[in-house]
Amino acid sequence: MATFEEIKISAKNNMSICKMCKACNGETCRGWTPGPGGKGSGSSFVRNVAMLRQVTLNMKVLRDDVEVDSSFEFFGSQLVAPIMAAPIANVKINYGSSVDEMSYLNALGHGCKLAGLLAFLGDGANREAFEMPLNLHRELPDYTVMTIKPWLLEQVFAKISEVKACSPKAIAMDVDAAGLILLKQMGVPVAYKTVEDLRKIKEFANVPFIVKGVMTVEDAKVAIDAGADALVVSNHGGRVLDDCESTIEVLEEISNFVNKRLKVYVDGGFRSGADVFKALALGADAVLIGRPFSHMAIGGLEEGVTMYANKLVNEFKECMRMTGCLTLEDIRRNCVNVHF
Ligand SMILES: Cc1cc2nc3c(=O)[nH]c(=O)nc-3n(C[C@H](O)[C@H](O)[C@H](O)COP(=O)(O)O)c2cc1C
Repeated sequence: MATFEEIKISAKNNMSICKMCKACNGETCRGWTPGPGGKGSGSSFVRNVAMLRQVTLNMKVLRDDVEVDSSFEFFGSQLVAPIMAAPIANVKINYGSSVDEMSYLNALGHGCKLAGLLAFLGDGANREAFEMPLNLHRELPDYTVMTIKPWLLEQVFAKISEVKACSPKAIAMDVDAAGLILLKQMGVPVAYKTVEDLRKIKEFANVPFIVKGVMTVEDAKVAIDAGADALVVSNHGGRVLDDCESTIEVLEEISNFVNKRLKVYVDGGFRSGADVFKALALGADAVLIGRPFSHMAIGGLEEGVTMYANKLVNEFKECMRMTGCLTLEDIRRNCVNVHF
């Protein structure tokens, strides 16, 4: 069995664009979109990672040694921890991956399932970019979530009809993809969505609906008013707006405003179980992780994904243990300090 480091080396060898840096922090790939990087100066990706370092944990160990329970429910799917793989599409164009898209998707979905986690799947400009993740979703409806791009409404409804035939636990939409450079370059129409649009989409989907790409209280209000079941605090990994706030900076304000009216997930720069713990302490219900999961899929297929997933879960549980949190409900604001 390969080691974690060997899989990272193999990922580096299997990618011609992504440099597989020691820390995946957006520095080397500033402006590489299309590519793995952040838009423009790349500062939004860099800030996502950097600001997580400004949150520290409070160690608390003087108590009995009991097993912690990190289990998490995602709309009826039981997961071992509140950690999910974020949707990442077009690994050929964005990473220069020598692993083809379907092998990458299979590795992600099956690898997450094996570790007791779940993977969001992306969507793209052409039919294939939707069909490939959909095929995997049909096979693993309890362990994958389709994330539809904010196309014009007729196209959205057509795609959702196909997803509904797979008995999905939930359907997501990355509403911030209205700002994606790649789609603009390909000339495919994505559109900003209003509260009425989102309400129609939610009604048509008739399953839990997740709005991905919320960075302000105002947009959180729209998601709530539209009847969404969850939102993802996300700036698309810094790929849609330069000089954007980091997701960890806006998370607490948004989760306080939401006040449990819907689930709050977050992504952007999260790399370790400790990072996941910080998000939960600041009000998130769960965390999505993007680039590192795709590196491990490209470097080690299913085995790589499972290894990274297990590593995250173990790190997260270790943080719970070392901060005196026995259940997810115990992870509260006083478990962390925020230095921004
Ligand atoms: C190469 C690449 C492709 C992506 N494709 C999608 C996509 O198809 N749909 C989507 O909702 N988000 C997409 N994202 C954004 C991720 O889902 C996620 O929001 C972001 O990567 C999280 O930040 P992290 O990679 O720093 O963990 C993509 C990100 C990257 C880097």
